[in-house]
Amino acid sequence: MQLTVLKERRPYETRVAATPETVKKLIVLGFQVVVEKGAGESSHYVDTAYEEAGATIESTPKKALEKANVVLKVGPPMTIEDGGEDEASQLPEGALLLGILQPYAKQSLLEVYNKRKVTAFSLELAPRITRAQALDVLSSQSNLAGYRAVIEAANSFERAFPMMMTAAGTIAPARVLILGAGVAGLQAVATAKRLGAIVSVFDVRAVAKEQVESLGGTFVEVESQEAGEAAGGYAKEMSDDYKARQAAKIKEVLQKSDIAITTALIPGKPAPRLLTADMVKAMKPGSVIVDLAVESGGNCEGSVVGKIVETNGVKIIGYANMPGRIPTDASAVYARNLLNLLTLCVDKESKSLKINWEDEIIQAIALTHDGKTLQSEKGTN
Ligand code: NAI
Repeated sequence: MQLTVLKERRPYETRVAATPETVKKLIVLGFQVVVEKGAGESSHYVDTAYEEAGATIESTPKKALEKANVVLKVGPPMTIEDGGEDEASQLPEGALLLGILQPYAKQSLLEVYNKRKVTAFSLELAPRITRAQALDVLSSQSNLAGYRAVIEAANSFERAFPMMMTAAGTIAPARVLILGAGVAGLQAVATAKRLGAIVSVFDVRAVAKEQVESLGGTFVEVESQEAGEAAGGYAKEMSDDYKARQAAKIKEVLQKSDIAITTALIPGKPAPRLLTADMVKAMKPGSVIVDLAVESGGNCEGSVVGKIVETNGVKIIGYANMPGRIPTDASAVYARNLLNLLTLCVDKESKSLKINWEDEIIQAIALTHDGKTLQSEKGTN
């Protein structure tokens, strides 16, 4: 079985789908591993480290893909429309492709997979069940995104986070407001607390309260009987009445905050708009907002993908691909997610691919197989 790791070519993508550590383990599973030249460069995994782990380096995608049975990617393969290398049409017929394939945003790729009889698994669709935790790419990447969002905020904030009592007087602690207490939001709470901030948190899911409080944050409640939890533990879109109550409460807390970190997402829908231009205007000059949902439409009015926008002295950070800003660790955990999934797909005795189509994890992540689309209505964040 040959397994190929391609170099990522999309804008803002700095991660890689295998590390020297996972290459060693993939070889033990029975794969011959080929890595495209420079694939790990932007996450600081050099070609020689892959070679020492047992991989062969190939200089072009064409050469790397020629005999591949399995292809590992972070993002969806590039197409002619993207410009540059057309990776999708070079996928070998019948190959197994693993990645964060974003079928909702990249529907036309499903046709390409089918034409080439590619079996495509999109890992962000994995169910949120205990058995799938080891391959849950949303968790592994959101966790680092939440951490990094606080670091970016602290870096742009021109004051200190912790309270400091000095001979020259007391420096007040920063007040951080976090909107959305999923994986990213909870890690943001933990990181901001570690830096010494006072942290307040909103979420529509009532179960988040206990998790926020266990990390030392204050959960801000919106007076409403409406349940915010939908299937799979995800949030649902709330009623207009709830949105109005929530907006009033957010405005009140935001005015007293120095930093806002927004992480709210609703699967398959644009991100909810939680911070309006008026609310931002009412913040103190020097405040910082990090909009982690910027690529899904943004939680904050005025945030721009890939940019820091400054209005009335308030910085709105809209960096794309936040996990990609901490690529060495993001790649390491992502690569382990892929390894864990492949371990499920390999028969240990015969050292060959054996996919269990009855497995609910496989059913959830499989997009195409043998020329057929298995699910067309899936939405992703
Ligand atoms: P997500 O990335 O889809 O959304 C982020 C957060 O935004 C969520 O907590 C959501 O409730 C919140 N949100 C949505 N709309 C909002 C609004 N209008 N106002 C305020 N907050 C809003 O969420 P993530 O991080 O993917 O987690 C989703 C669920 O999956 C959670 O219940 C989490 O505990 C669960 N989970 C389960 C795992 C497992 O058992 N394997 C692994 C990871 C997460």
